[in-house]
Amino acid sequence: MSLAGVFDSGVGGLSVLRAIRQHLPALPAIYLADQAHVPYGVRSLEEVRGFSEEITRFLLSQGASLIVVACNTASAAALRHLRATFPEVPFVGMEPAVKPAAESTHSGKVGVLATRATFQGELYASVVERFASDVHLYQHTLPGLVQAIEAGDLTAPATRAILEDALQPMLEAGIDTIVLGCTHYPFVIPLIEEIAGPNVRVIDPAGAIARQVERLLVKSGWSPVDQAPARPQFITTGQPHTFQRQLAFLTGDDEPVRQALWQGGELRLA
Ligand code: DGL
Repeated sequence: MSLAGVFDSGVGGLSVLRAIRQHLPALPAIYLADQAHVPYGVRSLEEVRGFSEEITRFLLSQGASLIVVACNTASAAALRHLRATFPEVPFVGMEPAVKPAAESTHSGKVGVLATRATFQGELYASVVERFASDVHLYQHTLPGLVQAIEAGDLTAPATRAILEDALQPMLEAGIDTIVLGCTHYPFVIPLIEEIAGPNVRVIDPAGAIARQVERLLVKSGWSPVDQAPARPQFITTGQPHTFQRQLAFLTGDDEPVRQALWQGGELRLA
């Protein structure tokens, strides 16, 4: 029996969970939003690594057999460390989709949107070195956007202003592709597309992550044949009623939400 443990600093990983559920409806999942610590992107990589390790331990204790790090920042900070610390556990992590962008751009100019911590990590440097040597990358950290999405402000004027500030200079420079390097950002794709216009391609890697989850599950012998759709479990380290509202608004889910609390660096169900 497989159970996917999925985590993020907040609601961002729901964009990944949504893709996993579309692709693998019968896969049971447990989602943890570390809203006591959101946003991760302005924190140090060491701090996010510590959170990620303990969240992984917690999800394994809840029965997870595979972990999806549905957060680019946590992947940048911790993916290598997690694989070394839990060698028996399969992990799927996020990396900015610079490779498909570099392969498909015609102008040779690509915008990459991610948090400061993601840009600082070795993972991003290595992706750029391996796949983007012939491409000009325009990077932006979109200060305040994660908080706006957590607050449900998907179309507010202030949210549009954050995106316009970041995108206008890139668009003027001639980008034809935008990489979403933070799992919160897919929730504002309509706004990004409105600002960028029809000739710019927006890449959300969630579908590719869902296919990678399937590959790992199949490798471990999982077979979804004839199983009914599974209902995910949701846990937040913030306020359950707030997360429940966010869930309803962003994904239409109406599942109960439990709370886990950080106590002396460890996570426990409340
Ligand atoms: N959704 C996350 C990411 O993909 C984290 C954003 C944040 O908490 O700053 O990077």
